[in-house]
Amino acid sequence: MKKYLERVGDMETPIIEVRDLWFEYPGRVVALRGINLKIHRGEFLGIIGHNGSGKTTLVKHFNGLLKPTKGLVLVDGIDTRKLSVAQLSRKVGYVFQNPDHQIFAPTILEEVGFGLKNSGVPESEIIERVKEALQIVDLNKPLDASPHFLSVGEKHRLAIASVLVTRPEVIILDEPTTGLDFKHCIQLMSIVKKLNERGHTIILVTHDMYLIAEFTRRVIVLREGRIVADGSTKSIMSNIELLEENFLYPPQVTLLARAISKYGIPPNIVTTEEFVTSYGNLLSRLSTENPNSL
Ligand SMILES: Nc1ncnc2c1ncn2[C@@H]1O[C@H](COP(=O)(O)OP(=O)(O)OP(=O)(O)O)[C@@H](O)[C@H]1O
Ligand SMILES: [Mg+2]
Repeated sequence: MKKYLERVGDMETPIIEVRDLWFEYPGRVVALRGINLKIHRGEFLGIIGHNGSGKTTLVKHFNGLLKPTKGLVLVDGIDTRKLSVAQLSRKVGYVFQNPDHQIFAPTILEEVGFGLKNSGVPESEIIERVKEALQIVDLNKPLDASPHFLSVGEKHRLAIASVLVTRPEVIILDEPTTGLDFKHCIQLMSIVKKLNERGHTIILVTHDMYLIAEFTRRVIVLREGRIVADGSTKSIMSNIELLEENFLYPPQVTLLARAISKYGIPPNIVTTEEFVTSYGNLLSRLSTENPNSL
C-alpha cells in the first residue's frame, strides 16, 4: 500500500495547518474569522455547522481553490499561496457536493484521467491508474462509456475515482452523500473508510450526524466563520446542548442512550455498535441478577 500512497516530507508536520485565517468574499461577506487548526496525517475529521457557517469556504482553502484574505494555510508545511491548484490537487483532492458539477468529459476514461492527462502522464499509465481508481470505488463500467448516464450513486463514486487517480494524501468530501439512499450512502462511506485505513487523511463535511458519529474520529464545529468546538467525535456528538446551540441534531442512538441512561446505559454513546454492546451488557447483567426478569 505504501507504493500506492507516496508520502514525502516530514511526518511530524501537520498535513494541513491553518493560522489565523480570515476570508472575505466580494461584497464584504466575511465568511471566516480567525480560524486556527492543525490536521495530522491519517486523521478522519468531520466538519459540521449550520448552513452558511463557513465549512465549504474553509475546505476550499485546503486545496487552494480559495486563498486567505488574511492569515496562512500551510499544506505539508508549504504556504498555499506559493502553490498552484494543480500542484495542490496532487496532495489534496476535493470531491464536490454535486457530482454533476464535476463531470464534463464524454467518456469515463477521459473523465477520471483528466487530472493525469493535464500533468502529462503517458496514456498507458493513465489507463492503468484509471482502472485502479475505478476498482477502488467498485465501479465496473467500460472505460469508453459516457459518465452522464451513470446513476447518482455511481456518479458520486466516479467523482471520488477522479480525485483518487492523482493519489492525493488528503481527500475532502463536501456533502458527499446528498441525494443517495441509505444503502448507497453506506457503500460510499465504506469506500471512504477503506481509504482512511490505507493512510489517506479524510475530511468530511456533512449535515448527517449519523455519518459523523459512525465514521469520523475528530470533529470541529463552525459557527459564523469561527471554530466553536474541536474534539473527539465522542465528546462532540454526545454534547447535545452544544449541537442544539449550533442548530444540529444529535445522532438518534445518543438520544436513545440518554433516555434510558437511568438503567445503566452510558449517556455518551454515539454509535450503534456501542449501543448494542452496552445494551447487551445490561441485559446479561439483569438476567444474572434476576433470572426470571427476562
Ligand atoms: N461565492 C460567494 N460569494 C459571496 N458570498 C459567499 C460565496 N460563497 C459563500 N458565501 C457566503 O459565505 C458564508 C459561508 O458560506 P459557505 O458556503 O462556506 O457555508 P457552508 O457552511 O458550507 O454552508 P452549507 O451548509 O449551506 O453548505 C455564507 O454567508 C455564504 O452566503
Ligand atoms: Mg457548504
